[in-house]
Amino acid sequence: MKIGPKDWLFIALIGAVLAFFYFISSEEKTKKVPFDEPHRSSYEVFRNTGSKSEAEKGCDVCHNDTARPLPKGHPPKERCLFCHKLKQTAS
Ligand code: HEC
Ligand code: HEC
Repeated sequence: MKIGPKDWLFIALIGAVLAFFYFISSEEKTKKVPFDEPHRSSYEVFRNTGSKSEAEKGCDVCHNDTARPLPKGHPPKERCLFCHKLKQTAS
């Protein structure tokens, strides 16, 4: 059987779906941002602005090299909230 353009499209689609599931399953292993006192203001910024990049500007006030260093071997840390999800909060 000859594999035509439509078949390749189908194969690509399956690949994309698999990659997507792989992505969400690995994402869930990363710890969420705790919903507690130190993190309350980050949740507030997110709720008020609807913007993750605004909310994560506050992270390194505490999570910096002197106050609360990130663990050794931590992946590149731009965009905290890409990996560390905010918890679903009843607002
Ligand atoms: C006011 C200080 C403060 C700010 C701002 C802050 N954190 Fe934290 N963070 C802490 C402290 C203290 C802990 C450890 C105790 C705890 O779990 O709250 C912690 C723990 C964590 C943990 C580990 C949770 C766990 O389960 O072990 C993650 C992930 C985290 N912070 C992410 C973030 C992100 C992302 C932001 C920015 C949106 C942020 N933090 C802003 C103080 C802060
Ligand atoms: C590319 C994905 C990624 C980004 C971006 C990222 N992290 Fe992490 N972070 C991880 C992974 C993976 C771990 C390992 C442990 C885990 O599952 O949380 C980790 C661990 C941590 C821990 C320790 C959690 C513990 O075990 O107590 C803290 C605190 C933390 N990150 C904060 C931050 C902050 C603050 C930022 C933004 C400045 C950030 N991270 C950005 C992926 C990421």
